[in-house]
Amino acid sequence: MASYASKQLLSIAIIFFCALGHLTSAQIVTLEVKEGNSTCIKAELVARFSVAYNTTNGTRTVTFPFPGNATVGNRSSCGGTELPPLLAASFGDGHALILRFSINGSQYRVESLALEYNLNDSSIFPNSSSPSLVTVKTDSAGILAQINTTYRCESSWPVSLGGGSGNASGNASVTFSNMRLQAYMLGSDLSRNETVCTADQSVTTVAPKTSPVTPAPVPTVPGNPERGNYNVTNNNGTICLMAYMGLQLNLTYPSSVQNKTVQEVVNLQPNQTKSSGSCEVSNATLQLRDDRTNLTFSFTLNTTSNKYHLSGISITATWPDMKEPFSASNGSLDYLRGTLGRSYLCSAEQTLVVDQTFAINTFHLQVQPFGVNGGQFEAAEECQLDEDNMLIPIIVGAALAGLVLIVLIAYLIGRKRSHAGYQTI
Ligand SMILES: *[C@@H]1O[C@H](CO)[C@@H](O)[C@H](O)[C@H]1NC(C)=O
Ligand SMILES: *[C@@H]1O[C@H](CO)[C@@H](O)[C@H](O)[C@H]1NC(C)=O
Ligand SMILES: *[C@@H]1O[C@H](CO)[C@@H](O)[C@H](O)[C@H]1NC(C)=O
Ligand SMILES: *[C@@H]1O[C@H](CO)[C@@H](O)[C@H](O)[C@H]1NC(C)=O
Ligand SMILES: *[C@@H]1O[C@H](CO)[C@@H](O)[C@H](O)[C@H]1NC(C)=O
Ligand SMILES: *[C@@H]1O[C@H](CO)[C@@H](O)[C@H](O)[C@H]1NC(C)=O
Ligand SMILES: *[C@@H]1O[C@H](CO)[C@@H](O)[C@H](O)[C@H]1NC(C)=O
Ligand SMILES: *[C@@H]1O[C@H](CO)[C@@H](O)[C@H](O)[C@H]1NC(C)=O
Ligand SMILES: *[C@@H]1O[C@H](CO)[C@@H](O)[C@H](O)[C@H]1NC(C)=O
Ligand SMILES: *[C@@H]1O[C@H](CO)[C@@H](O)[C@H](O)[C@H]1NC(C)=O
Ligand SMILES: *[C@@H]1O[C@H](CO)[C@@H](O)[C@H](O)[C@H]1NC(C)=O
Ligand SMILES: *[C@@H]1O[C@H](CO)[C@@H](O)[C@H](O)[C@H]1NC(C)=O
Repeated sequence: MASYASKQLLSIAIIFFCALGHLTSAQIVTLEVKEGNSTCIKAELVARFSVAYNTTNGTRTVTFPFPGNATVGNRSSCGGTELPPLLAASFGDGHALILRFSINGSQYRVESLALEYNLNDSSIFPNSSSPSLVTVKTDSAGILAQINTTYRCESSWPVSLGGGSGNASGNASVTFSNMRLQAYMLGSDLSRNETVCTADQSVTTVAPKTSPVTPAPVPTVPGNPERGNYNVTNNNGTICLMAYMGLQLNLTYPSSVQNKTVQEVVNLQPNQTKSSGSCEVSNATLQLRDDRTNLTFSFTLNTTSNKYHLSGISITATWPDMKEPFSASNGSLDYLRGTLGRSYLCSAEQTLVVDQTFAINTFHLQVQPFGVNGGQFEAAEECQLDEDNMLIPIIVGAALAGLVLIVLIAYLIGRKRSHAGYQTI
């Protein structure tokens, strides 16, 4: 009985550790091909290989991950007039994954995908009967994207690799997932414009179809956003702009899934948002960005009146559902008016309208775009909304006090009257 239970426990533990091993072996590998200072290919991906090979005993299939310490080998190249761009990533004991790119009109693709594996590596291929280097490849990896965009595919998809060269034929496959890849790059960062693979698109398009409920026309509004602590630092490392606020973005854009204009309200997640910016004498910017949204606030100081205000907001967003990248900006705003040497505080929810397609709701906002000293907010000037909210209790209090006074006076008068009445009797 006890031994049965302990066996069950043991098998559960084994399953657990196998699952754990599987998880930890799935590593995101980052690869970059450079020529001089310019990057031409960049890839982030998870890959797992499955290879069949002959042992002294028969055919055996092993699977192994593309390890995180794979390196860009010297066969890699940005290409030239005759040569195609090539990414050759070496790993382990003589293995390599090789992607050759080609361009056709406004699209680029992985023209050939090859895996080289060394059957001599007994840590992966024990008891191999033909210790040699095998190359397997395919011309249809299915990786195709618009030029100047990043190919993105979170879903996992298998690619079978066949053929073979050397003195052994090969039979292998690779399963990719979490891929972000770009060739023929313009800058050193992956483009924020993406070509999303069909597998990822069907994940989002299938969902509404399987749901029996017709989508509500009114978008769901998330709860209040979390407050983020956003600072901008000077060249000398001192904080020159501070903001502590919760932000909710309200965007109207053409949806590729629903094939119509939709409105979406999304909270900015502080832990996934990076802040940067600049501080000049009479203007300052705060830039907030996450992996799909780039938001810029511009503040202006009038140096004669020593008053500042939020004068501009701009946004670019590449959300998965968007038909095309979204952008909106307005450089002639007049929000968050404050005085130099003071911070601006607004606890009440405020809506900053940028244009017809974009507005920001702010929650518990405190900013100081100029004159920050020692990384702390100066005394706050409260917004009108807060003052109005404060006015209500004051008015109610005053009204109550007035009422009490009237009752008291009425009572005193009444008592005097009745007193007089007794005397007349
Ligand atoms: C790389 O960039 C630096 C500064 O931007 C420049 O001085 C250098 O010459 C560049 N090198 C090449 C190989 O382009
Ligand atoms: C294994 O050996 C057989 C017979 O020698 C051969 O036909 C087959 O292609 C080999 N398989 C692999 C995966 O090398
Ligand atoms: C050959 O296969 C048998 C049974 O499948 C196994 O017991 C043995 O260890 C294998 N030998 C080698 C060298 O792999
Ligand atoms: C890469 O990592 C594996 C373990 O994940 C390790 O065995 C191997 O030695 C590493 N190779 C290099 C070149 O660092
Ligand atoms: C890619 O970007 C470059 C530089 O901005 C531009 O010259 C080129 O026309 C763009 N290509 C396409 C297909 O959009
Ligand atoms: C994204 O695409 C749009 C139009 O297709 C273009 O205006 C914009 O510059 C692109 N952005 C990047 C970062 O390539
Ligand atoms: C940092 O630079 C700002 C102006 O850019 C200056 O006011 C401030 O005193 C400097 N702080 C330090 C510690 O040097
Ligand atoms: C979003 O903006 C639209 C108008 O553009 C407005 O009708 C809607 O109430 C706003 N939603 C929120 C949650 O602010
Ligand atoms: C999208 O809508 C337009 C007009 O509303 C229609 O002509 C088009 O066929 C639709 N496309 C898809 C894929 O449903
Ligand atoms: C960010 O914060 C949210 C809510 O507090 C949390 O659910 C999420 O796991 C956090 N993400 C990261 C990457 O820390
Ligand atoms: C900000 O101010 C600096 C000088 O103080 C000026 O050079 C720059 O053009 C200004 N930027 C904007 C957007 O007004
Ligand atoms: C911004 O500065 C404040 C005050 O120095 C600090 O408490 C906060 O952690 C900073 N925020 C970030 C994101 O560094």
